[in-house]
Amino acid sequence: MSVTPSSASKLPASDYVIFGGTGDLSFRKIFPAFFWRYLDGQLTDDFRLFATSRRAFNIRDFAEALRPFCQDAFASGYATEERWQAFLKIIQIVIMDVANGDGVGSLVTQIKEKANIDRPTIFYLAIAPSLFGSAVQMLKNAGLASPQARLVVEKPLGNDSSSSRTINEKLTAVFNESQIYRIDHYLGKETVQNLMVLRFANVIFESLWSNQHIDHVQITVAETIGVGKRADYYDRFGATRDMVQNHLLQLVCLVAMEPPTYFAADQVRDEKLRVLRALRPLSLDDLALGQYVGYREELGEASNTETYVAMRLSIDNWRWAGVPFYIRTGKKLEQQASEIIVTFKNLAHDIFAKSGGDKLSDYPNRLVIRLQPSEGLRLHMTSKQPGPGGMRLSPSDLNLSFEETFEERLPDAYERLLMDTARGNQTLFMRGDEVMAAWNFIDPILAMSANIAPARYVTGSMGPDDTLLEMDGRQWIDPDQDWR
Ligand code: BG6
Repeated sequence: MSVTPSSASKLPASDYVIFGGTGDLSFRKIFPAFFWRYLDGQLTDDFRLFATSRRAFNIRDFAEALRPFCQDAFASGYATEERWQAFLKIIQIVIMDVANGDGVGSLVTQIKEKANIDRPTIFYLAIAPSLFGSAVQMLKNAGLASPQARLVVEKPLGNDSSSSRTINEKLTAVFNESQIYRIDHYLGKETVQNLMVLRFANVIFESLWSNQHIDHVQITVAETIGVGKRADYYDRFGATRDMVQNHLLQLVCLVAMEPPTYFAADQVRDEKLRVLRALRPLSLDDLALGQYVGYREELGEASNTETYVAMRLSIDNWRWAGVPFYIRTGKKLEQQASEIIVTFKNLAHDIFAKSGGDKLSDYPNRLVIRLQPSEGLRLHMTSKQPGPGGMRLSPSDLNLSFEETFEERLPDAYERLLMDTARGNQTLFMRGDEVMAAWNFIDPILAMSANIAPARYVTGSMGPDDTLLEMDGRQWIDPDQDWR
């Protein structure tokens, strides 16, 4: 993998304010992403980053705390001491309290110094959603909610449709929808964006992409990590809220959506919204819940929160009628891997069946979209086994490894998303109505789940045995451990 300057274009000079600028998300994701983009020449020296903190922090403490999270840039040889120091110069720490606005005066003075209609001011609320309301009111009162201001927020955007609506009302009381950027970091992943290109730039797939030729779709997002230090948050949310309401449903949308008229924010989001609205309400038979052994001990109390969830989804429209989408996600599973597997139908007539040997139905064509790690595509085909012995059929793969093909570092999702907020491109962000449609689908599932005790599964397995696919005469296909 080479890490060389990319041809990425420079961003408009902007003021980027990260509330919660010395919190976990800032150090783990936001600032390392900015650092990579800085190294790539996208941030000019006129770009200003403000990290707000309630605690007394100076730039030296900040640099020390941030540096371990930027280690990969140093390890690749791309970052140098000189560039690190230059990057730190565009960062300013603002000591203030978002909850009551104490200390906002200095931020206002600095922003107003350079304010002009062409200079975006972006406010990233990397703080608890319970503070979103006071934060946006504070921005309004301080005169910072200008037409060139943008607001970036991230999940959890509520824990059901009603709390989500309340949060949204607070945001839209101050900012217009066109100023709000709701992050689902899955949409920033290179492979997830590539899903749209795969579908809409290649005639070979799009012409097969329907119930005419597709038997079913499986989406697995498997994680080996447990809930660790996030147990308090996680226990209130569980896998359905934490992963399905957002990331997995977004993946379903990208696989299932109709082609937008052109590639622009509202066109793409309109089509995703249609998929969400076409999801058939789940019945009890369509749902399986699990909890890993040891979860309750980690939490320190009894709990029925699911750390694994699997669902059979049906999309009630012409394209997808009769094609189940099986989705699953869980913690402490056997491997860390996410895949979308599209299994095609068998040919209507198998001309090889009578000549003995393998049947075509033993080797359905499958398209495997590997989201992470070792990103790539694999197409399972059937070929003739070379050599004598008659017409023996054998499975074989067409492989496309992104790393080998493009030989470039794949940027982290946040790098792309942060840059898009500065460019004013909302395509990879969720619109308010999408978030609501996803919650409207999830609400009844949560009500149903409340009465189900999750099946326990041992850590390092692929979750509890669920019969969702068995009932349909199919089985889960586990992500390939030896992808390359
Ligand atoms: C987050 C969830 O949104 O996504 C976490 O809250 C989860 O529980 C994470 O671990 C997974 O993201 P990624 O990018 O590691 O697949």
